[in-house]
Amino acid sequence: MIKAVIFDLDGVVVDTAKFHFVAWNDIAKQFGFEISSHQNEQLKGVSRIKSLDLILEWGHIKLSQEQKTLLLNQKNEAYLAAINLLNKTDILPGILEILTYLKSKNIPVALGSASKNALPILQKLGISTLFNVIVDGNIVQKAKPDPEVFMQAANKLHVLPKHCLVIEDAKAGIDAANNAKMTSIGIGNKEILINASYVLEDTSKLSKKFIDELLKN
Ligand code: BG6
Ligand code: MG
Repeated sequence: MIKAVIFDLDGVVVDTAKFHFVAWNDIAKQFGFEISSHQNEQLKGVSRIKSLDLILEWGHIKLSQEQKTLLLNQKNEAYLAAINLLNKTDILPGILEILTYLKSKNIPVALGSASKNALPILQKLGISTLFNVIVDGNIVQKAKPDPEVFMQAANKLHVLPKHCLVIEDAKAGIDAANNAKMTSIGIGNKEILINASYVLEDTSKLSKKFIDELLKN
């Protein structure tokens, strides 16, 4: 039985995944290659530093810590510029309705995101108060697929992991939910999100009826 819902941010609440991709691809281009869509799937849900390490590995590039720090800052500045104008209209279809619905039913809700930019993004979207708890990349030590982010969210909500539902668009995020022994809804391609408990094509399919079924069972 589901008693709490944990939302991923990028690619679930808001379509920022495309801005992460453009910013990382610009870094890769500096080294003379581009990130494929298959490679991009591996960047989803993954921390900033781990993403850079993967890109450098794909390009067979070795850098010093200082050089890496410069690239991390460069990527984040490009990303922040891209999301500067985010507002309520950028919330993905159905998400605001589900968040409001869960609040009306007193179902506790958490954000479980790898992003260090999570809070300013929620504030731009005007929905930070709809989350009882925010666990983000500033707090979490171990990146998804490690279950830490979702376990911290469950602990802070005072709900057992087996009663938590995770909504995620990334393979690493679904693996993290499974590692936490939580139920999951994958948003996106069912071939990629094969390990999710349920897969929906996009957030508009996240109906109140579907959530109600999970809250009942
Ligand atoms: C995740 C995204 O939510 O956050 C990743 O899916 C991103 O693509 C990660 O790398 C870290 O985000 P940020 O905003 O701290 O660079
Ligand atoms: Mg995501």
